[in-house]
Amino acid sequence: MQRVIPIVSPCFVPVEHMPLTFDGPAVFGRSAPLAVEIGCGTGHFILERARQQPETDFLAIDIYNKGCLKTCRKLEAAGVGNVRVLRIEARELLERAIPNTTLQAIYINCPDPWPKQRHRERRLVNQEFLELALHRLVPGGELFFSSDQCDYVEQVTALLAGIPALRNQLSAPFVYALPGYPLSKYMRRFLDQGLPMHFVHVRRDPVIPLPPRSTPESARGFRSRRPGSNHE
Ligand SMILES: C[S@@+](CC[C@H](N)C(=O)[O-])C[C@H]1O[C@@H](n2cnc3c(N)ncnc32)[C@H](O)[C@@H]1O
Repeated sequence: MQRVIPIVSPCFVPVEHMPLTFDGPAVFGRSAPLAVEIGCGTGHFILERARQQPETDFLAIDIYNKGCLKTCRKLEAAGVGNVRVLRIEARELLERAIPNTTLQAIYINCPDPWPKQRHRERRLVNQEFLELALHRLVPGGELFFSSDQCDYVEQVTALLAGIPALRNQLSAPFVYALPGYPLSKYMRRFLDQGLPMHFVHVRRDPVIPLPPRSTPESARGFRSRRPGSNHE
């Protein structure tokens, strides 16, 4: 297992110091729309997005310690003040710390693909996760999803299409380029190899309510990383 390097950075919020409910004004020193990037990796995307939208505050989360560290370093070097990095599992953050109707946007870029059929149940974005994430969006809030894996994108777009409270923001269920959308490290890597990227962008309808979540509260949980996983 790799060594966990302690992260000391003004951009980093240690989860053990985080209040039970994430307190944006306390952390950022202002009241602003809040957005989350799930699986920020090494921070290429969030650095650019935060620069594009200085009026928004961003949480960049990952379970990968070194990724969080690199993201903090990038943000610090660039003097970007509207991002905080948390080393936390996505479902844990959303279930535990983010109330319903809080987030202006959720970004999920190149989530772990789990391409083998027998591993697909490990994919982060499934019906249960989408229900959780969408309830955390404010009415009018946006969900962005991108992947190189066409079947993952088709799985996600099929789930989204079944939710009347969502408005597709694209001319098709997914597109191969999203002008103005920053490229993450993985996106760049795939595009450099000549592989297609697929982008999804939906908005929560400001009026139509979301259906209730299908999993009862008592059955909800999240899978943290398995012990022994080499993902520090
Ligand atoms: C394939 S990488 C993509 C990184 C980055 N988004 C990019 O496009 O360059 C997937 C990232 O998601 C993180 N990740 C996977 N499952 C996660 C979870 N349940 N919660 C938070 N982060 C997760 C991984 O640690 C990894 O850094």
